[in-house]
Amino acid sequence: MTQQWQGVAAEDLDTIDVATGLRLATRSRRLLGSLLRSQLSRISAAVGLLLADQVALLAGPLLIAVAIDRGIPAALVGRTGPLIWCIAGYAVTGLADALTVSAFLRLSGRIGQDVLLDLRERVFAHVQRLSLAFHERYTSGRVISRLTSDLDSLQEMLDKGLDGFFISVLSIVGIGAMLLVLDIPLGLVALAGFIPLGLLTRWYRRRSQHTYRATRTWIARVIVQFVETMNGIRAVQAFRREPRNVSIMDGLSGEFADAETEALRLVARFTSIVQLVGSVSVAVTLLLGAWRVLDGSLTLGVLAAFVLYLRRFYDPLDELAMFANSYASSAAALEKISGLLDERPTVGDPVAPVALPSPVRGEVVFDGVRFSYGGPEILPALDLVIPAGQTVALVGATGAGKSTVAKLVARFYDPVAGAVRLDGVDLRAVADADLRRAVVMVTQESFLFAGSVADNIALGAGPSASRSDVVAAARAVGADEFITALPNGYDTDVRKRGARLSAGQRQLVSFARALLADPAVLVLDEATSSLDIPSEQAVQAALATVLAGRTALIIAHRLSTVLIADRVLVLSDGDVIEDGPPTHLITAAGPFATFHSAWHPSLT
Ligand SMILES: Nc1ncnc2c1ncn2[C@@H]1O[C@H](COP(=O)(O)OP(=O)(O)O)[C@@H](O)[C@H]1O
Ligand SMILES: [Mg+2]
Repeated sequence: MTQQWQGVAAEDLDTIDVATGLRLATRSRRLLGSLLRSQLSRISAAVGLLLADQVALLAGPLLIAVAIDRGIPAALVGRTGPLIWCIAGYAVTGLADALTVSAFLRLSGRIGQDVLLDLRERVFAHVQRLSLAFHERYTSGRVISRLTSDLDSLQEMLDKGLDGFFISVLSIVGIGAMLLVLDIPLGLVALAGFIPLGLLTRWYRRRSQHTYRATRTWIARVIVQFVETMNGIRAVQAFRREPRNVSIMDGLSGEFADAETEALRLVARFTSIVQLVGSVSVAVTLLLGAWRVLDGSLTLGVLAAFVLYLRRFYDPLDELAMFANSYASSAAALEKISGLLDERPTVGDPVAPVALPSPVRGEVVFDGVRFSYGGPEILPALDLVIPAGQTVALVGATGAGKSTVAKLVARFYDPVAGAVRLDGVDLRAVADADLRRAVVMVTQESFLFAGSVADNIALGAGPSASRSDVVAAARAVGADEFITALPNGYDTDVRKRGARLSAGQRQLVSFARALLADPAVLVLDEATSSLDIPSEQAVQAALATVLAGRTALIIAHRLSTVLIADRVLVLSDGDVIEDGPPTHLITAAGPFATFHSAWHPSLT
């Protein structure tokens, strides 16, 4: 691994010690157990079908032995009954085999698909619930690789490997028992091949686990690189980063190909040795068997049955090798998926939620709040009281901690020490659904979901919002005019070609969405920064009425927005260094006055 793509994904590749390996295995097994538990009755039915199939399969060679040893001699003296019964019986076992196998494959296919569906839903729902802190650490590319390549590898195992595994194990056990019943010494010779096979399988399991972990990690890195490039495609093209991205991608893909090749080389070695052991066993058994027939201590029919059984005995080993392969790959995938499912939201829903007063007044208090993102302290100890209904503008240099304060109010993070309270209730004690109703945050990157403009505005209020509510909200923020000019007005699909909204228009839509949600506390983090001057003036006009009756925290770069606030807080390195009504601060000789004089000539 060379320097250039280190840190693409912070997953440890090489150094998995025994304890960690065991922990991973337990975690995967727990997940698999919980997935299979809901399918228990169908799994039992599938196993039942398999058992029936095995009985039919085992009966076949036995009937042939009887036909050779008893049926034919009887037929030679004129009694054809036994021979006909044997042949008819054989035909019936063939039919039973066909029917049970087909029923089994259909059932097991359905079980596999349901398990995957369940897992896919779980992963998606879980990832959505995880906190922002998780998403900043675990890139979307890694989540995508869990949902795609890891799930695919599980799918492959469930689709192909698992059936083969059950069939093989049952037939090996059944045939092994049958061999011993037919002739103990010869059966033991045939079974002796399993000793080297057992050792070989252990060796393979250990090696392949390691190799497949590497393939899972490398493919995840390939996907991460791909997703990041696509997400940042504008920057990639603007800064001509294509050649460098190509070389990183080539490197990662090469590592993945190497890891995959190594895994396949291992399979090749394993499969060929299995085949060899099988052939040697068959040869030795035949040799001894033929000798015993010549000796007279074994009938020809029993030897014929033996050979027929033996062929079926070692065939499934191939299947087993394939299964071992897809199992190793999917076990590594399962480790990764179960790791993702084990992540807990860092801002979890409270166990015993405290109800907010109804209606929520909207008083926000920072009580000795200390905060860091895991590194240096961003807020050393913030004390702040924002009375209900107040409009507060947060100003300060880039990196002062304005957005951090906003994210704490919306509880995207929890403080390291101290508490953020809404109407006297610690946010950590407020049920998530209540909090999202009470506090709405609008950010600079106004995200629109697939659907109509109206759907996107109504999102904030839920299905109860009527069209007139939607239009009223859009009017209030000055978005009505451009929306009605769209090809289908409010019903225009925002993802359709030709209906792409500009950054400013998207901001107005998300602004209307927040207004319709009618929260007690509204947080605007540079939510007006993409608006051009005329539309901002329209918003400005609406803001005053819209903000009335609710608490608002506004982070804005425009003086005009700051001036409508009741109070300005100037933040520097996570500390409030100035606090007062904007008109006072302008005349005072503090930091805000400095900002103000810098603003004045350039922006209105
Ligand atoms: N997700 C994050 N992880 C780590 N550090 C962060 C994160 N977000 C912001 N920071 C750091 O926290 C500090 C304050 O950032 P922020 O609150 O976004 O400032 P502002 O909004 O005032 O520009 C900065 O030093 C920034 O580097
Ligand atoms: Mg910011």
